[in-house]
Amino acid sequence: MNQHILFVKRPVGWPDASCFRLESCPEPACGPEDVVVEALYLSLDPYLRGRMNEGPSYAPGFALNQPIVSRVVGRVVASKNARFAVGDFVWGFLGWALRTVVARGEGLHRIDPALGRPSLAISALGMPGLTAWVGAIELGMPAPGDTVYISSAAGAVGQLAGQFAKRAGARVVGSAGSDDKVAYVIEKCGFDAAFNYKTTDMDAALRELCPRGIDVYFDNVGGSTLEAALRHANVAARFPVCGMISAYNETQDRGVRGLQALLNKRITMTGFIIYDHVHKLPAYQARVAPWFRSGEMTFHEDIVDGLENAPGALIGMMKGESIGKRLVRLARE
Ligand SMILES: NC(=O)c1ccc[n+]([C@@H]2O[C@H](COP(=O)([O-])OP(=O)(O)OC[C@H]3O[C@@H](n4cnc5c(N)ncnc54)[C@H](OP(=O)(O)O)[C@@H]3O)[C@@H](O)[C@H]2O)c1
Repeated sequence: MNQHILFVKRPVGWPDASCFRLESCPEPACGPEDVVVEALYLSLDPYLRGRMNEGPSYAPGFALNQPIVSRVVGRVVASKNARFAVGDFVWGFLGWALRTVVARGEGLHRIDPALGRPSLAISALGMPGLTAWVGAIELGMPAPGDTVYISSAAGAVGQLAGQFAKRAGARVVGSAGSDDKVAYVIEKCGFDAAFNYKTTDMDAALRELCPRGIDVYFDNVGGSTLEAALRHANVAARFPVCGMISAYNETQDRGVRGLQALLNKRITMTGFIIYDHVHKLPAYQARVAPWFRSGEMTFHEDIVDGLENAPGALIGMMKGESIGKRLVRLARE
């Protein structure tokens, strides 16, 4: 029996289980030119929280009583479309369902098996990876010897942003919400230093770990973390603003203090959305896939099994329980 997860209630503040409903649904029928995809991995991303709100976000809001949609890696199990064969691995923006029909195969992308395991198409070699590259390298422009500070350092984007900046010759410092995450980014990702922002005074940590100040702050978090980075930034620092997750489940805008540092220190703060950069994906994959194959770079996927566990896994990711890129696995490759 096919199953899907519907979005049934808009959250105020943090979402909970009552916002989602797991239901049985009809098996998809494969019409002319259509493709049926069995889902293998669902991508759980912080921006999905913005799509649960009524008002506009940078991605369209979810309709009530419709399946949650995110990037999904799957396998073609039926096809009447010449572009896709049974057994192909594909990714696309699909509903959270065991099996989905994709009309005329539109929006579906074949995954090149040469790039590695299929899940990489929505993790290190997909959106989070390109996001890390654009923010850390294109906007951060780290020079050898610069100090790059990355918040949510052990997350999907953060772990890669740090490794890219390190390859560019920078000193890389991260913050994360547990000692295990701090150990992960230092021991596995090669960060020079990191601290647990929940148990350490941020100013004291940045003073100690960034003794020459911050040249690039890769912002995943916003809020008090951004305020601390502003206090420790150098003149002409770059602040690529990737995300502000500390605010996504807040019901009030708390504002940001210390913005005068932008003026005093001539800081360039640049927000970016990865949709504006998707044309760079093939070049990005060609450049970085060999680094993962050779083991020069690492990437951790944090996998939760079972469609029924997807809502809890999404909320848990936003609360900090995952290390690396959180995926929900629905079937084995
Ligand atoms: N601009 C774009 O196009 C784009 C694309 C992808 C992602 N993003 C953004 O990039 C950021 C990271 O995304 P991701 O997919 O890599 O997620 P992630 O870092 O893997 O997961 C989110 C993490 O944020 C941390 N966090 C949550 N609340 C926090 C708070 N109040 N203060 C500090 N840290 C907090 C938690 O880790 P801790 O245990 O460390 O607290 C949590 O695990 C998000 O803000 C996301 O919206 C933007």
